Amino acid sequence: DQSRQITETLAEFRLTNEQLLEVKKRMRTEIQNGLSKSTQDSATVKMLPTFVQSTPDGTEHGDFLALDLGGTNFRVLLVKIRSGKRRTVEMHNKIYAIPLEVMQGTGEELFDHIVQCISDFLDYMGMKNTRLPLGFTFSFPCRQTSLDAGILVTWTKGFKATDCEGEDVVGLLREAIKRREEFDLDVVAVVNDTVGTMMTCAYEESTCEIGLIAGTGSNACYMEEMRNIETVEGDEGQMCVNMEWGGFGDNGCLDDIRTEYDRTVDDLSLNPGKQRYEKMCSGMYLGEIVRNILIDMTKKGFLFRGQISETLKTRGIFETKFLSQIESDRLALLQVRSILQHLGLDSSCDDSIIVKEVCGVVSHRAAQICGAGMAAVVDKIRENRGLDHLKITVGVDGTLYKLHPHFSQIMHQTVNELAPQCNVNFLLSEDGSGKGAALITAVGCRLRQELN
Ligand code: BG6
Ligand code: GLC
Repeated sequence: DQSRQITETLAEFRLTNEQLLEVKKRMRTEIQNGLSKSTQDSATVKMLPTFVQSTPDGTEHGDFLALDLGGTNFRVLLVKIRSGKRRTVEMHNKIYAIPLEVMQGTGEELFDHIVQCISDFLDYMGMKNTRLPLGFTFSFPCRQTSLDAGILVTWTKGFKATDCEGEDVVGLLREAIKRREEFDLDVVAVVNDTVGTMMTCAYEESTCEIGLIAGTGSNACYMEEMRNIETVEGDEGQMCVNMEWGGFGDNGCLDDIRTEYDRTVDDLSLNPGKQRYEKMCSGMYLGEIVRNILIDMTKKGFLFRGQISETLKTRGIFETKFLSQIESDRLALLQVRSILQHLGLDSSCDDSIIVKEVCGVVSHRAAQICGAGMAAVVDKIRENRGLDHLKITVGVDGTLYKLHPHFSQIMHQTVNELAPQCNVNFLLSEDGSGKGAALITAVGCRLRQELN
């Protein structure tokens, strides 16, 4: 009967403990591949060095500009950090839109737009004539050779501007500033959002040595021992590594848990075959998985009276905020139905029950595999330090983590179950990653002065 068939369709999404342990184990293997010189070139979890060698110590100070590009919002920020007995951080920021045609136009247009926004912000703050140091949070994979140089490996998520891949994004930003001939800035650091988030949280809580984003995309960074990072000279101390774990599975190692819906979402994306793990656990794709399941169920006649509406054929209709609303326990089914109706999906009460169940299994799996990845990371750190037991804090940000009613709790629980020798505390970043980028910029400025 129908309800049995629905259960069967969704069964593949319910992972067993063994499967989750397998995900953790495979993530660990891929981490190793990314760190080792001999396997690094073909590694899917790239383990990119960030040249951030310590978390904040409270002595950072100064006024900085920060850019935050690659999440839901593009922001320009002014961050004023005061050190000493009464440490304070004052932030001003403005959000700017990046139109789709700019995200997917030419690189020159994209960077001109960014500089246009900076210009507006400087006017707004009345500080066009000050040459401030700038930290650039750029939430994409970059191969760094220093704090202030990062070659874009590949665009991810919704970006696809031409002529940027293979280029140093700091160079692209500097050139766009020059083209405008209006103001000057000193770009000191390029920072991944995971790293910015870790630093933001570490400023308040010194045990924070991991950064996690569960938002539009999914990624993590952590403090790795220099001796284990074979791609960087030197064996002393630590360096933060941007894992780029979204690419986990791109060599097929997750194929046994991927469903036909995951494959469809991947095929229809801007970057087919890439970021397969991210496509199973981040906000940009969860709604698409749901939509494809609903299409399939409608075709089979289980939903919407068998009618596939134009709305259901529209990519991207289920944003994270809708999934979050649909799954909220405080909502009565009637309200779920009205959300669906609002989206243009004419649904019966039975339909809304099924839709809610579909959303539930998809986000549950997402939280679990994200937790399995994190379990691999904390156990790696524990082993690095030769400890039986590790206590550590993860700084987290992202709309999926913040808005979804169950994601965070399921993710935490999964980490606890899969890494029982670690006591993992999750700290929500209240200030985004711009503050962290400013802290990194402060250190960058100090190091530069010491060298001169
Ligand atoms: C923000 C950070 O708070 O979270 C960004 O400042 C980050 O740097 C973002 O990219 C991630 O969340 P989302 O859901 O907007 O992609
Ligand atoms: C994508 C990007 C990565 C970023 C993550 C979260 O996976 O490649 O750099 O950290 O999204 O925004």
